[in-house]
Amino acid sequence: MNSAPATALPRPTAAADRAATIRPDRIHITGGTPLTGEVTARGAKNLVPKAMVAALLGSSPSTLRSVPQISDVRIVTGLLEAHGVTVRTGESRDELILDPTSVESADHAEIAAHAGESRIPILLCGPLLHRNGRAFIPDLGGCRIGDRPINFHLDALRAFGAVVEKRSDGLHLHAPQRLRGTKITLPYPSVGSTEQVLLTAVLAEGVTELRNAATEPEIMDLIAVLQKMGAIISVLDNRVIHITGVDRLEGYTHRALPDRLEAASWACAALATGGDILVRGAHQGSMMTFLNVFRRVGGAFEVDDSPLNAGIRFWHPGGPLKALALETDVHPGFQTDWQQPLVVALTQAQGLSIVHETVYEKRLGFTSALISMGAQVQLYRECLGGTPCRFGQRNFMHSAVISGPSKLHAAELEIPDLRAGFSYLIAALAAQGTSTVHGISLINRGYEDFDEKLNALGARFEFGEMTVQ
Ligand code: EPU
Repeated sequence: MNSAPATALPRPTAAADRAATIRPDRIHITGGTPLTGEVTARGAKNLVPKAMVAALLGSSPSTLRSVPQISDVRIVTGLLEAHGVTVRTGESRDELILDPTSVESADHAEIAAHAGESRIPILLCGPLLHRNGRAFIPDLGGCRIGDRPINFHLDALRAFGAVVEKRSDGLHLHAPQRLRGTKITLPYPSVGSTEQVLLTAVLAEGVTELRNAATEPEIMDLIAVLQKMGAIISVLDNRVIHITGVDRLEGYTHRALPDRLEAASWACAALATGGDILVRGAHQGSMMTFLNVFRRVGGAFEVDDSPLNAGIRFWHPGGPLKALALETDVHPGFQTDWQQPLVVALTQAQGLSIVHETVYEKRLGFTSALISMGAQVQLYRECLGGTPCRFGQRNFMHSAVISGPSKLHAAELEIPDLRAGFSYLIAALAAQGTSTVHGISLINRGYEDFDEKLNALGARFEFGEMTVQ
């Protein structure tokens, strides 16, 4: 049981709130200045909300450290509180204490208020079925980068013995009896479905065998959280995971792994602007595939793994960047969330680059804005430059040929999704003139204090209205 002094969680949180309340939802960026300096990457956006959900499974409070101030954390806090979990900040603003000892079935209207905000609510199914025997999940939100169905999640929950009913307001689930361990083979190594199975199997009766599981570093960190709680999980070769259900789990104390997606985003910003950025907290082990590509494109990096100052410095060493061919894939492949920031840097590379997006069928749509800024990007339906993927025969523009280098010029941009949003910031920073980027609150979903970090790196920008020079 954690006894750290706790204060009520300040909501809404600093950066996300300023965006939501005070700041207009647009930013004016004047490009042409190399970004130089130091930023810190805190806990991973794609782990922290899931570790918060895992706290629901414990019989005692959990402490989660290195929690970023992002809106996904605020959304999950609201959902957990609606179910009776007390969520407080601990000794510092990046420490959360989650007390699930008074969990109850939430009021439907309170849950429905979170409809369309995020995809995380689907992960509450297993924990709520274990705690309450029933669960109501509102319609999901999340970035519009493809259809993003939840069929794997629902098939897995049914295999555990849950009864799932889709109604107009969302999903209604109940467990007629204790959920039972089962054998599941995912049709595709989906991150969320793997997490769904883990969060459900740990308290199910008997053994669960999961085949074709995703093995992203954030999933390994979630497994570490669950193991601290008392779960028995074995990660075997060939994407097989065995989970032996236990009767009871306790709370955990855990420091979230650093956000490798944020770190790579800053690395691409350094490359595209000809800058030099030290990302404190960035971790080489979870970024090896990215680092190889960064080096092949012509970027330079240096890893500092000293205990107090760990991080990676990324910089543009001068001279032309090199074009390359790459495809996104599940881990250990090139992460799809790295693709969009890298594409901006590739507009500055000499020659023809090919990018084949194999995880989300619509994740290259954001390039239309880059084209409006002068980038030369052509999209194709075919699987270019690599292995044929699920989208090859389905008429999706999921391959891109980028011809560079292009001089980018300022434009008016509307952010369609989180990573595209950060990529537009990078493009505006690399362009000549002053761009206006609309919809920046989306960036707060995954990037803590991005405006303060931009400021620290010497970016020239201001929010809302402005006087054009
Ligand atoms: N899929 C299905 N059916 C399902 C689930 C997934 O067909 O039931 C398909 C999806 O449509 C997609 C593919 O499987 O084509 C991969 O989806 P996955 O389930 O792996 O993605 P996710 O769990 O919804 C998480 C991250 C994403 C990240 C992906 C892939 C979170 C909150 N989101 O999404 O992060 O791109 O894994 O690594 O963890 C981002 O950070 O910008 C972001 C989108």
